[in-house]
Amino acid sequence: MTPMNGDVVTVTVDLPGRAYPVRIGQHLLASAGAFVRACSRAARALVVTDSNVGPLYAAALQESLQAAGFESELITVPPGDASKSLPQAAQVYDVLAARRHDRGEPIIALGGGMVGDLAGFVAATWLRGVPFVQCPTTVEADVDASVGGKTAVNHPMGKNLIGCFHQPVLVCIDLDCLRTVSRRDFVAGLAESVKHAIIRDSAFFEWHEAHAAAILAARNDILQEFVYRNCRCKAAVVVADERETATTDVGRAALNLGHTIGHAIETQCNYELRHGEAVGLGLVAAMDLAVRCVGFPDPHRQRVEALLARLELPIRASKTLDCQDILRRLGADKKVRDRTVRFIVPVTIGAVRWLDAPAIADVEQAIQRLLAPMPR
Ligand SMILES: NC(=O)c1ccc[n+]([C@@H]2O[C@H](COP(=O)([O-])OP(=O)(O)OC[C@H]3O[C@@H](n4cnc5c(N)ncnc54)[C@H](O)[C@@H]3O)[C@@H](O)[C@H]2O)c1
Ligand SMILES: [Zn+2]
Repeated sequence: MTPMNGDVVTVTVDLPGRAYPVRIGQHLLASAGAFVRACSRAARALVVTDSNVGPLYAAALQESLQAAGFESELITVPPGDASKSLPQAAQVYDVLAARRHDRGEPIIALGGGMVGDLAGFVAATWLRGVPFVQCPTTVEADVDASVGGKTAVNHPMGKNLIGCFHQPVLVCIDLDCLRTVSRRDFVAGLAESVKHAIIRDSAFFEWHEAHAAAILAARNDILQEFVYRNCRCKAAVVVADERETATTDVGRAALNLGHTIGHAIETQCNYELRHGEAVGLGLVAAMDLAVRCVGFPDPHRQRVEALLARLELPIRASKTLDCQDILRRLGADKKVRDRTVRFIVPVTIGAVRWLDAPAIADVEQAIQRLLAPMPR
């Protein structure tokens, strides 16, 4: 079903008037310049990266930009979510101002989701929006963050509180970049893929079950199909409900599966967990809530937990997890509407729905699941 032959494969995010390609393949940074050229006539570009990624990949990207006739400048920010901040964005604006970066000149993110969100936010706001290109380098960014146009920086009060929608003009995914991602970051990103499968694609869920070992081994052919199917899933959700305003069905909010409780865990742990690890735990809690409240079959829950565990994601939290504190944090979650916490929950593997204002006891039990003994 998927054109996996070692060549570049493309997913189109088919938004009316703003369609863009997601190109996926090996050794793709060498072609990035030509891809950018296909959507920009500018003479200059700005590349934003972090200090882990820059030394590994910025030269390859800048060489290919130069070969395509772009003079590029590189900005390197410190790694970690702390750089996804207004003060850091302000430093990038200073560089843009100094170089008189104009309306037609692209800003290119080279890095994981942190760099993508920060550079995307700057691209969205500089001169009310300049062309934005994503060159993601982590699993999290390849399968989720680079597609869909959500950009943000954090506020001390919480993650992603300041942001806007700004679709890229191009996403260029060089799978070779995943070779240098730490094992922990690689595995963490897999949680978003399991999420995509649960929300809309039971065949993709089975594919994960069949290929878990090959995914972990980062086999080239498997990685390409893995990223391709994720991008196709994300693109379909985004095209159907770009701004998460659907009222007749769950729309883009489906992507929040595992994220409501996941975010609360992430902030309680003071960001010591990877985003994907917190999402994995959030998925476990969401499955429990679904079993309790919407008749999600218990054997399905067991399959989800077993898959997450096979992918080496944590399915139980540290004993220090404070259930009451998580409940309080849910109250402050930005998904709260009219003082009513809503959750996305699966009804089966491949379909989700809203669960409105469940009994607090059920939410508490779902969080407690994360402290229950491990299944055998
Ligand atoms: N915009 C969206 O739709 C969206 C979706 C999901 C997540 N996000 C955001 O993405 C961020 C998390 O993304 P992430 O997990 O990619 O984190 P990250 O960008 O912080 O990268 C994780 C670590 O890996 C390093 N790294 C990145 N690429 C590397 C490579 N190829 N080789 C070696 N090291 C590399 C980074 O320097 C960092 O230390 C969060 O801020 C989250 O909010 C956004
Ligand atoms: Zn996420």
